[in-house]
Amino acid sequence: MQLDLEDEKILQGGYGETRQKMMEILVALGKVFGADKLIPIASAQVSGASYKTIGEWGLRWLESLHAKVAVPTVLNPIGMPRETWDELGISRDFAERQQAIINAYRQLGVKMECTCTPYYLQLTHYGDHLAWAESSAVVYANSVIGARTNREGGPGALAAAIIGKTPEYGLHLLANRKPDVMVTLDGACTLKNRGDVYGAIGYIAGKRVENRIPLFSGIRPRRDDLKALGAAMAATGTVSLFHIEGLTPEARIFKFMRTGLEEIVIEAHEVDALFQEMDVDAVAIGCPHCSAIELEEIASSLDGKKVKKPLFVFSSDRVLHTHHAAVEKITRSGAKVVPDTCMVVSPIMERYRTVMVDSGKAFAYVPDMCGVLARIGTRKECIRVATS
Ligand code: F3S
Repeated sequence: MQLDLEDEKILQGGYGETRQKMMEILVALGKVFGADKLIPIASAQVSGASYKTIGEWGLRWLESLHAKVAVPTVLNPIGMPRETWDELGISRDFAERQQAIINAYRQLGVKMECTCTPYYLQLTHYGDHLAWAESSAVVYANSVIGARTNREGGPGALAAAIIGKTPEYGLHLLANRKPDVMVTLDGACTLKNRGDVYGAIGYIAGKRVENRIPLFSGIRPRRDDLKALGAAMAATGTVSLFHIEGLTPEARIFKFMRTGLEEIVIEAHEVDALFQEMDVDAVAIGCPHCSAIELEEIASSLDGKKVKKPLFVFSSDRVLHTHHAAVEKITRSGAKVVPDTCMVVSPIMERYRTVMVDSGKAFAYVPDMCGVLARIGTRKECIRVATS
């Protein structure tokens, strides 16, 4: 891989040990994946932010680093809300370790925006090269915005953040962004009547598509549906980019390439079968973190109601701070609005036996990550279950 003089100097240790280590990570990644060079990135999003997922080893590694990030860099959700952790049954010991992780990232110059929806922070535009780590954010950036990022691991994203560059391979190259499988829905109209089912569709599609790039035809999801669809496909498959005919920005570039693609048909009854009834102890909404529109919709569905089961709504600090009225309405119902963290990377759900979610990604992850049984429903069904 070709490095410029400055990069060579970093690799030789001319700008300190941390930068040298970070450059070594990028060079190793570049060699493994056959990159010719490093390219500048517009922003980075770093995973490995919750003490629940990185533990003591991760914390020590972060504390051993001494440098500053070179581009705007934000964090994935951490393991607790920074201010109200003690209201949510988080232990002091966990909170102290989590705080140490926050401090370590702060020292590195990472912004304290702890969210899996960094695209709401206006961090990226069409064609930007990024180094993002959160799989649901990666698939959204690539597919919906038309930015370019591989699905980075935590150390790779942090290395790119500190150097301000990433190896040019994979989805940074247009040639690797073309679709390689067609996906259609049989009975899309039936599904539409159910409400927001794109998380469930993505849950099934991801299992079939695996690591390929799907081109969907005949669907017209809203923006938040695109988020749910991509997040679920990234969880049950390793999808980092999808196209939708007539909708996503790069679909038009590849519109003549659908001939000869393998076709996957998802049947409405497969999606319906996921929505099994089961008694639940708690309900969690906001995977990926709720958008402003979703927050407003939840607030209006809860208006004048009281929750009878614990209901948690997860979103980013930024979205919550700009939508006080919605937050207040949700809180008045007895539901908890939780910033900075989520149902998967925090210990919040671990005290329950069964949890209902409205997200294909959470449905896939909550059982293993929290040790609970999961039920999936539409957002409206989640709110009905929490309030009746
Ligand atoms: Fe975000 Fe947590 Fe879901 S990080 S995508 S809310 S699992």
